[in-house]
Amino acid sequence: MNTSHDELNAVARRMVAKAKGILAIDESFPSIKKRFDSIGVESTEETRRAYRELLITTPGAGDYVSGMILFDETLRQSTARGEKFVDALNRQGILPGIKVDTGSKPLAGFPGEEVTEGLDGLRARLTEYKNIGAKFCKWRAVINIGPGIPTPGGINANAHALARYAALCQEQGLVPIVEPEVMMEGDHTIDRCYDVTVEVLRRVFAALSDQRVLIEGTILKTSMVIPGKKCPRQADVQQVADMTVRCLLNTVPAALPGIVFLSGGQSAQVATEHLNAMNAGGKTHPWPLSFSYGRALQDPALKTWKGQAANVAAAQKALFHRERMNSLACAGQYRVDLEKQAA
Ligand code: 13P
Repeated sequence: MNTSHDELNAVARRMVAKAKGILAIDESFPSIKKRFDSIGVESTEETRRAYRELLITTPGAGDYVSGMILFDETLRQSTARGEKFVDALNRQGILPGIKVDTGSKPLAGFPGEEVTEGLDGLRARLTEYKNIGAKFCKWRAVINIGPGIPTPGGINANAHALARYAALCQEQGLVPIVEPEVMMEGDHTIDRCYDVTVEVLRRVFAALSDQRVLIEGTILKTSMVIPGKKCPRQADVQQVADMTVRCLLNTVPAALPGIVFLSGGQSAQVATEHLNAMNAGGKTHPWPLSFSYGRALQDPALKTWKGQAANVAAAQKALFHRERMNSLACAGQYRVDLEKQAA
């Protein structure tokens, strides 16, 4: 191993430094096209570059953001003035990260279940990413809830891939973000989400242990325990926070440097409220609980930008506001009335 355990642990701890979280801007080509379609902007190499420049160069972001997860194309791009995005991030004290999976596909023999691909050739890609300047990586597994799914076989396939990926990252001196996402699609109850998430996290940490992954050099990115979008019985903020923390306490080793959440389709404000409730009231957990949102951080900025250069400053303000709100939520100090400061 080129990088010592201590170095991996130091990077992992920086990723979840006090009151800081991670901005996910690693949308694949189909995902960014979907986001751009929603504001009527064509997805081209240049529009993607311009949008990512806006996100990467938002003034003051380094106060609240520890790292950004980029997509392969983005890691190689530069600002309009010719500064490499990686250099722009480092200048602000923000760690550059990279999504390294190649997406999820139907799992053969398991109708309705998916498995994430990208292990073939991964070692060589990681070496290249490390040379370009990445400090950490991300791999997302998709777990769907439905009648009879997920199955043990489906969960195990994803846990195994996550663990193989994590071991390869650490071999290359990169901190792996291990991301099992239990999807919000469906009409399942919050109790069903709890049971599935417990099972998934147990199998993921068992697989990490089997593959000799250093827990002190790993970050968990997980979904919250939340009812399906179509469940008639929705949960309040406190219930989501309590059940999510209980789920994590029952499954995640205390040696893990930190846990960050994805937003998974929650609105920007609700995602902040959930994180805040988990950290409010002087609650202590063995790990920092922080954010690694994509949509819940970007959406207000995307809608403000609309593809127009004239809107960049206003869009950056909107992003900065969400970064600040979520930073406060890491300390349990967010209040809904602070949203008014957005303008
Ligand atoms: P969302 O917060 O939009 O779910 O995205 C986070 C992410 O990185 C999903 O892999």
